[in-house]
Amino acid sequence: MEIKNLVVIGTGAMGSGIAYVSAVAGINVTILDKEQRFLDAGLDKIRKALMDGIERKKLTPAEGEKVFSRIKSTLSVEEAVKGANLVIEAVFEDMNVKHEVFSELSKFADENTILASNTSTLSISKIAEVVKNPQRVLGLHFFNPPAAMRLVEVIKGKETSDMVVESAKGFVTTLKKVPIVAKDSPGFIVNRVLLPSLNEAAKLLDEEVATKEDIDQALMLGANFPAGPLTLADMVGLDVALASQRTMERELGEAYKPANILVKLVEEGKLGIKTGEGFYKYRG
Ligand SMILES: NC(=O)c1ccc[n+]([C@@H]2O[C@H](COP(=O)([O-])OP(=O)(O)OC[C@H]3O[C@@H](n4cnc5c(N)ncnc54)[C@H](O)[C@@H]3O)[C@@H](O)[C@H]2O)c1
Repeated sequence: MEIKNLVVIGTGAMGSGIAYVSAVAGINVTILDKEQRFLDAGLDKIRKALMDGIERKKLTPAEGEKVFSRIKSTLSVEEAVKGANLVIEAVFEDMNVKHEVFSELSKFADENTILASNTSTLSISKIAEVVKNPQRVLGLHFFNPPAAMRLVEVIKGKETSDMVVESAKGFVTTLKKVPIVAKDSPGFIVNRVLLPSLNEAAKLLDEEVATKEDIDQALMLGANFPAGPLTLADMVGLDVALASQRTMERELGEAYKPANILVKLVEEGKLGIKTGEGFYKYRG
């Protein structure tokens, strides 16, 4: 199925980026969030991404206008899903919140509409349990920031049909990104490897093995990390990193237990770049 009309639910860091890259690829996008102020913030992020694209001469101002005109916004799921071929959910990394959203989608979306979650670690098969026909549910895991990262993991749940996987791969290719299919397993491919390495870096801080700056620099100089693991965790969002780590601990065992400092920073509301402080402090 060709994807012409997309709905993105949740317009935070990931949802707004997914909406942006899809609109640039010529797809009509409707974005949805819980409150108008979150929708407005999402639209601002998309506008800023377009301005950056124009500044870097990737788009002309006229093309930028055209892209922006493909994006609509609403607070109503029922209204958003009318005529949608694909819905991508990018709300909080919490199974209860995901279930709330997918129950509504099951109620209002046409039975042929493909329903995808951008979850980092949660089980797609479990998310699909609240949907009437779960063969149309899959994971489409974009990376942060969606405009720059070329990989999209395509996650096949227990019930996901091959046809749905093929349509999703086609959609990812339209965005000029690379789809890689993985089985529904905690953290899929990239996060199974990456998040524990961020957590181990935080455990080194717990154990006072080195300073945060030295841990980051060591991994950059010694392992060619493009950014230090603690800086990367601040970029990901410490709440997202913690929630994902907890899922892996639950599913895979004690070795995946979150670092104490990660839990503490999240309890203090220090979630990384998005709140101005995480492992590091950020200005403005
Ligand atoms: N941040 C990352 O690096 C990253 C990377 C890949 C995947 N993910 C995954 O993407 C998802 C979103 O992450 P994020 O970092 O964009 O989160 P975020 O906190 O930046 O944004 C989440 C958005 O969802 C909205 N929301 C919450 N409940 C909602 C509901 N019931 N209906 C509509 N909107 C709702 C919130 O208002 C908010 O705007 C998570 O599942 C996360 O694990 C995150």
